[in-house]
Amino acid sequence: MTTADRRTVYVSRTLPELRSRLRAERAFGRSIGFVPTMGALHAGHASLVQRAAAATDVAVASIFVNPLQFGPTEDLSRYPRTPEADLELLAAAGAKHLWMPEVATMYPPGSCTSVGMKGLIDVLCGRSRPTHFGGVLTVVLKLLLQVQPDIAFFGRKDYQQALVIRRMVRDLDVPTCIETCLIVRETDGLAMSSRNRYLTAEERAQAPALRAALLAAQSAFLAGERRPAALVREASDRLALAPLFRIDYLEIRDPETLELRDEPARPGDLVAIAAHLGKARLIDNLLLAQD
Ligand code: PAJ
Repeated sequence: MTTADRRTVYVSRTLPELRSRLRAERAFGRSIGFVPTMGALHAGHASLVQRAAAATDVAVASIFVNPLQFGPTEDLSRYPRTPEADLELLAAAGAKHLWMPEVATMYPPGSCTSVGMKGLIDVLCGRSRPTHFGGVLTVVLKLLLQVQPDIAFFGRKDYQQALVIRRMVRDLDVPTCIETCLIVRETDGLAMSSRNRYLTAEERAQAPALRAALLAAQSAFLAGERRPAALVREASDRLALAPLFRIDYLEIRDPETLELRDEPARPGDLVAIAAHLGKARLIDNLLLAQD
């Protein structure tokens, strides 16, 4: 697509503005696809917007760095913000609308309602980030109610996030389909992430080991190993070759219930990893024998 072909992206900063624009789209009978983001966009986000533009009539993206999903010692204040580049990327990917609320628009003074969930949000990332998924679910429910999309698109890089959003939408009868899209990677295998910008050159050189660790478990599984502990050991031995990493979790779980897998591991089981590398905390995952 050349610059001349790029459509205007209509940026809404207030809820009445967003609602009247989307009401007009619906009045023409157009279906709406929605991609929520926190900005600092990369090709992974672009792939979701392209998918939304292909699957629906109007692709809407949002950029909102959601304070509710950051813990007190996390990177809220230094989370990367690149609004101009984001707008270009969204235009090139085919977005027609961008919803960019301020914090006070999203959480006006006196806001005191939030979404909770039991079980699924207590494991994996939820164990190390105990308030994270409550914040994600609250903002995503608000965004879905604001935009009222036919389909919302999420990346499988954040496997647990996509799963808990699906569950919330099902449990609360939210009239939106949730589509989960493939992980977009750098050529060396590192999953694209806004937080990759935090890596120094030395850390970046070691970063592909995260994916390599998952692939080590995959190879062992394909070679016949079925003991979850042995598969985890294969992966952690591989990650140990990149000594700057500090593992947060590395686990094999049921892909739907997220229960820890007892022996034997099965095709389709989730292998999920989170590890600190310098200032960044990186996550990745794969499904045994399916990726
Ligand atoms: P953010 O990290 O900006 O990600 C926005 C969406 O892009 C998420 O669905 C995420 O899974 C997807 N994504 C990120 N990296 C990807 C990659 N390499 N390949 C494919 N998809 C990728 O996730 C959030 O924001 C927030 O928690 C949010 C859902 C917006 C709620 O605040």
